[in-house]
Amino acid sequence: MKKLLIAYYTETNTTKEIAEAIGRIAAEKEWECDIKALSDISSVKAYDAVLVGAPVHAMRWVPEANAFVEKHRETLQKTPTAYYAVAYLLNCSRPFFQKLIRKSLDKACGIVTPVKTGMFDGRVESEFPAFPRWIFGVKPGTAPDLRDWEAVEKWTKALFDILDK
Ligand SMILES: Cc1cc2nc3c(=O)[nH]c(=O)nc-3n(C[C@H](O)[C@H](O)[C@H](O)COP(=O)(O)O)c2cc1C
Repeated sequence: MKKLLIAYYTETNTTKEIAEAIGRIAAEKEWECDIKALSDISSVKAYDAVLVGAPVHAMRWVPEANAFVEKHRETLQKTPTAYYAVAYLLNCSRPFFQKLIRKSLDKACGIVTPVKTGMFDGRVESEFPAFPRWIFGVKPGTAPDLRDWEAVEKWTKALFDILDK
């Protein structure tokens, strides 16, 4: 059985829950899957593929995720590697911010070229207050949890199409 590592960074479990959803699909695809926080991983050598998932902060993939890719660069370059970013403002903010978010994986892609990247809508703990909503252009009444589980599933199945080739 091939072995996948899903390495995640999270502050409020959103990215972790997406990792777990991906892990369930991995099991259906008959991949053994370890789901671990970046901070708990010392080596990525035991895996046939690695997926790194982390949220976007300040319109960038969190620095911890880029640092992880940099730290394990040598092994990841020899291992099929994929990235996903989770961002609340991905599709509900002004185009200016959406464009920045869509570039948030560029740095990691420059360190280790991935077989696939994904960008998923995220979640905030409570509805945005009026001022940041105005700054970012988020419409009143936008749900705090924008995760699209069907999009996650579709993306994950496409990832396994690549990994199983
Ligand atoms: C400090 C901080 C900064 C954030 N900055 C952004 C941002 O620039 N763009 C965005 O789309 N979402 C931003 N978010 C929202 C997160 O991307 C979103 O809530 C994500 O789903 C959180 O994932 P997590 O629960 O795994 O940490 C920010 C959240 C926090 C806590």
